[in-house]
Amino acid sequence: MEKYIIEGGKPLSGEVHISGAKNAAVAILPAVLLADSTCVIENLPDISDVDLILKTMAKLGAKINRLDENTAEIDPSGVNSYIVTKDMSSGMRASSYFLGALLGRMNKAKVAPPGGCDFGVRPIDQHIKGFEAMGAVVTIENDMVVCRANELNGNYIYLDMVTVGATVNIMLAAVRAKGMTVIENAAREPHIVDLANFLNSMGANIMGAGTNVIKIRGVDKLSGTAYSIIPDQIEAGTYMVAAAATKGDVTITNVTPKHLESIIAKLLESGATVQQFDEAVRVKMDRRPKRCQVKTMPHPGFPTDMQPQITTMLSVAEGESVVTEGVWDNRFRYIEELKKMGAEISVEGKRALVTGIEALNPATVNATDLRAGAAMVIAGLMTEGKTTVQNIEYIDRGYENLVEKLTKLGADIHRVSE
Ligand code: EPU
Repeated sequence: MEKYIIEGGKPLSGEVHISGAKNAAVAILPAVLLADSTCVIENLPDISDVDLILKTMAKLGAKINRLDENTAEIDPSGVNSYIVTKDMSSGMRASSYFLGALLGRMNKAKVAPPGGCDFGVRPIDQHIKGFEAMGAVVTIENDMVVCRANELNGNYIYLDMVTVGATVNIMLAAVRAKGMTVIENAAREPHIVDLANFLNSMGANIMGAGTNVIKIRGVDKLSGTAYSIIPDQIEAGTYMVAAAATKGDVTITNVTPKHLESIIAKLLESGATVQQFDEAVRVKMDRRPKRCQVKTMPHPGFPTDMQPQITTMLSVAEGESVVTEGVWDNRFRYIEELKKMGAEISVEGKRALVTGIEALNPATVNATDLRAGAAMVIAGLMTEGKTTVQNIEYIDRGYENLVEKLTKLGADIHRVSE
């Protein structure tokens, strides 16, 4: 077991380069299985979730050649298995994307139920509804989700709620189906657009990604391509909040500022200065944060994956802030950890009432999931004294070179084995 030891209280300053987007990568890699020849995927984040997906693809029969830590050449032509066991995917959430990808490739898929961070119930009923609308029969056999179809046919699919996962999975199953699929009430996240751009670069015919109606006209064949993944909106947001929370001055490079608008809006409200450039943003804060209200929503709303980080900053704001979680049932487990550092936060259902205090106290805290882990790191960085963050394997799932990047910004953070 490893942990981070952080000597906090130092403002972050300098420049940090953002990696490729985790949630785009975990959709684009399974999508490679739909091609009939080699793809080169660039700007892959070097994180454990990507390693796991590549290993799973290799076990399915794909040939993987890591050209460097951020580039993989993948030849899917030898893929002959349609089964992803729990051991292969380690219960990762994105393993559900193998359902859509294998169904689209082979008309059958057998995948262990997806796991992932625990924010309460994480159903896949909308994914299944989509597959069934296209003609698949979906059953549960020996704790595995099994999808089978004679052929997949396009259909009209209305999603009951905005879901990233179901939007991705239906796109994957539909690109090689017969006829037109229409996804109504589709998710609009930047990684949905990235997946559509990738599939189109292989020869797919997808229109409307980035709006709430996506139309997919099935094609017979997808060919290999070279594609570079977009920058990670949430990694960028995490460094932006870390800069503000430590009263620092950080330029965050290799970002798409358009994807960061809701985060920029909240940082401005909290008193930070934010400058935007073509592919960079500079965040500067020279005061105690001001209170603000945050409500997470599907894109373009404030991302739920930034909720723990901003709440952590608001724990030392002037006045009382209200943070409302609008996506997940239970994404406030980390608040018990922040309370170990003295935070005054009470949770009522989907709302957290945050009474800002002058400063947190250093303590030993746990990463309860990936973004909660990032929030604990921010808590440590903004607090004088020694904070220990445990269970950091969660953080490895989604942040490339966190220690190196923060050290370059002047942080005192070390990874140690327990
Ligand atoms: N939902 C259903 N039925 C479904 C699918 C979803 O009820 O069939 C509900 C969920 O319970 C949730 C809401 O719809 O309340 C949204 O879920 P969504 O499907 O959008 O989430 P996801 O695809 O499982 C992805 C990200 C999460 C991120 C959410 C929301 C990946 C691999 N994961 O999850 O990212 O929180 O979208 O933006 O893309 C993270 O990166 O830390 C992370 C957890």
